Amino acid sequence: MSYFRKNIDKMTPYVPGAQPLPGQKIIKLNTNENPYPPSPAAIEVLHAFDADCLRKYPDPMAREFCGVVADVLDVPAERVIPGNGSDDVLVMISRACLEPGKKITFVAPTFEFYEVQSNIENATCIPLDCEPSEAIEQLADQDADVTFVASPNSPTGVLTSCDALDELAGRLSGLLVIDEAYADFSRENALMLAASHDNVIVLRTLSKGYSLAGLRMGFAIAPPPVLQGLVKTKAIYNVDAVACAVGAAAMADQDHKNANARKVIASREALSDELAELGFTFPASQANFLLARPATGNASEIYEALKARGILVRYFQNQAILSDKLRITVGTDEENGLLIAALKEIMA
Ligand SMILES: Cc1ncc(COP(=O)(O)O)c(C=O)c1O
Repeated sequence: MSYFRKNIDKMTPYVPGAQPLPGQKIIKLNTNENPYPPSPAAIEVLHAFDADCLRKYPDPMAREFCGVVADVLDVPAERVIPGNGSDDVLVMISRACLEPGKKITFVAPTFEFYEVQSNIENATCIPLDCEPSEAIEQLADQDADVTFVASPNSPTGVLTSCDALDELAGRLSGLLVIDEAYADFSRENALMLAASHDNVIVLRTLSKGYSLAGLRMGFAIAPPPVLQGLVKTKAIYNVDAVACAVGAAAMADQDHKNANARKVIASREALSDELAELGFTFPASQANFLLARPATGNASEIYEALKARGILVRYFQNQAILSDKLRITVGTDEENGLLIAALKEIMA
């Protein structure tokens, strides 16, 4: 006997990357966090936060935060919806759009949470196995109710150009969700498509570029009719008052975010060269991680050997397509140096 719907009993849950216990000393290169601190202006807002505000409910639409997003990204504020992380907006999209008989699609491998959400709603999930060059054609052919493209994609780091996404949006009759969690590290983004197409939702997060994964703050930009549908499925006070105030200050400090992103990009290029020298191959990444395949040795054994040396990278043990690869977050140059030294030792 079960308390749950049949599809919930049957489904495999999302498995987040391991989080060490507080105080545990580890080099953490497994969940694509930013190695640098958040904006000093955001930290100041956190320290100065008036605890009396916590007595009252926060603004359900986080208007202060969305106003800053609108200013910074030059989009109308009525097109911005706040999320408790961008995964919260993915939940809203699934609740609003999916049910048995509805179909989602994406090119695999990608962020597993899309499939998990589809399974929760008992919708049909069609993962596509194709080369990036065929992706637009194949996604357009499916014409699913909701098409997901993470750009840059996780775990591959591969960017889909704005032109390609523009073409795809024009060919789909359903929604196109462009998940730009890693856009801050990328040479281009597709934000403008949420204004030029009535079926495009662009997702952003403060977890990566803004160094605020623990705050849980994200948002989507969408055409007003789409946004109104999502608001219906949003938890009432999904974004708390602290996250709203700190997130607004972080968004306003674009210089800080951009300076950190430049450091991460420079380290990504240096780490790519060093991994290549060790025989790893990987797709060109526009994100803050590399999906690295060792020339020799077994990825799962390398993962365990790194873990034994206090270095955590991501190994996706449930996905056959990724069984020979490791996803490595770009750390500080010092962390990357320790990673390379450990890999040299392991692979010797
Ligand atoms: C592609 C992608 N989208 C969305 C998310 C969710 O980010 P958050 O909920 O922290 O905003 C992640 C997290 O790693 C991700 O990799």
